[in-house]
Amino acid sequence: MARKKRIIEDIEVIDIADKGNAIGKAPSGEIVILLGEAVPGDTVDMVYTKKKKGLKHGFVTEFKSKSSHRVEAKCDHFGTCGGCKWQHLDYAQQAMHKENAVKQAIRRIAKDDESKVNPIKTASKIYNYRNKLEYSFSTKRWLTIEEVNSEEQFDQRPGLGFHISGAFDKVLNVDKCHLQDDYSNTVRNTLRDLAIENKWSFYDIRNNHGLLRNIIVRNTTLGQWMITIIFGKNDAPEIEDVMTKMKNSLSEITSWNYIINTKSNSSISDLSAEHYAGTTHIEESLGDITYRISPKSFFQTNSHQAKTLYDTALDMASLDAEDVVYDLYTGTGSIALYMAHKCKKVVGIEVIAEAIEDAKINAETNNITNSTFLVGDVKDLLDPTFAERHGTPDMIMTDPPRAGMHEAVVTTLLTLAPKKIVYISCNPSTQARDILLLKEKYDLEQVTPVDMFPHTSHIESVALLTLRS
Ligand SMILES: C[S@@+](CC[C@H](N)C(=O)[O-])C[C@H]1O[C@@H](n2cnc3c(N)ncnc32)[C@H](O)[C@@H]1O
Repeated sequence: MARKKRIIEDIEVIDIADKGNAIGKAPSGEIVILLGEAVPGDTVDMVYTKKKKGLKHGFVTEFKSKSSHRVEAKCDHFGTCGGCKWQHLDYAQQAMHKENAVKQAIRRIAKDDESKVNPIKTASKIYNYRNKLEYSFSTKRWLTIEEVNSEEQFDQRPGLGFHISGAFDKVLNVDKCHLQDDYSNTVRNTLRDLAIENKWSFYDIRNNHGLLRNIIVRNTTLGQWMITIIFGKNDAPEIEDVMTKMKNSLSEITSWNYIINTKSNSSISDLSAEHYAGTTHIEESLGDITYRISPKSFFQTNSHQAKTLYDTALDMASLDAEDVVYDLYTGTGSIALYMAHKCKKVVGIEVIAEAIEDAKINAETNNITNSTFLVGDVKDLLDPTFAERHGTPDMIMTDPPRAGMHEAVVTTLLTLAPKKIVYISCNPSTQARDILLLKEKYDLEQVTPVDMFPHTSHIESVALLTLRS
């Protein structure tokens, strides 16, 4: 009886919400959030389970009619794996909803005109577009519905794949993932098979115990592959055994590395990568620039769209040969180096020391002599005296993490007052928040969304701001 009261019938699904969820409109006009697999164009009944921020959230109990925008999900793990939640929605619709998300942020948060948002630049490759995947080991793989419903007992449950969201100690045992070139599947499945055959222990996160913890697989458009295995135990003979057997099984790997992490947390930023065999790094090329990628260095995870993103930013910057340019949150200097031949001088700032090492090497190997790279927090390094030492900037490129820029950085940008700011962001909300602050002295000219991650709700957006005269 209680359940019946909680049913809402004939909801029209009208939009996409965060995290693969959807927004519905009930016949009464009430707006609700549908958790799970509904897509715009569906008509559904739902049972609501909770109220959040005044909105009822719940699950679909029945599809009354299905949207014409639905497509068959390509992946066998769809629905269980949290990775590509929009696979069942056609790509044009995904793109439209992402563009709308950027428009909404500009209208509601930046308090500006959404017509300044250009059409989204969609991805030409909607599968196998990632150049990096990290798989996790677990002693408790996630059981499928069929396994749960079967009579079988599963005492030993080693698994290698992706973490299940909301169940930190369990992983989905992945057989085939469509996000990276298919050889990534060969690498992962080879390691899992060898581990089971050789009785190498899988990591038990609850007890911080076990040899095999993670494997990071990276590749580049130049056909190079890098493997970094993360071990939970500092046991040299066992590590040697794993690395030798893997190396003997896989002939296409360019660079072999490992990291020992015996800590209870999984962060590897404070650990060093050990080089095992092959080259110490792999190479990627965007435009005229060749980048060196070390096991721990950041590189945009979709190389094809990284070029589209950088070209979009560079077009907006419309640099002059005499311009002094700052590249804030420069990572391995990727955008800075991409811009260097178009300006007089470029100065990159980044908090991770190893990334700056890579940036300097990348400058050298590409014969770029007009770049300077500095390690530190942008908030601390970029004070008003910075310009006296490095030159007054004509254009500032900024590409902060999801949280956006610290307010102090925005204040410094307003003081430095370059003619142009090009703001790249992976979070339209924090980008729009910072744009609102910059509007004290700047006009927002245009914003271009770029899709780097098909089948997910993530969106990158590039904004151009010009100084008011
Ligand atoms: C979104 S990535 C951008 C990387 C680079 N622009 C690229 O396209 O490859 C953000 C970068 O900001 C760095 N970062 C985060 N917080 C920082 C801070 N407070 N000061 C300087 N760098 C920071 C991160 O380490 C990361 O490399």
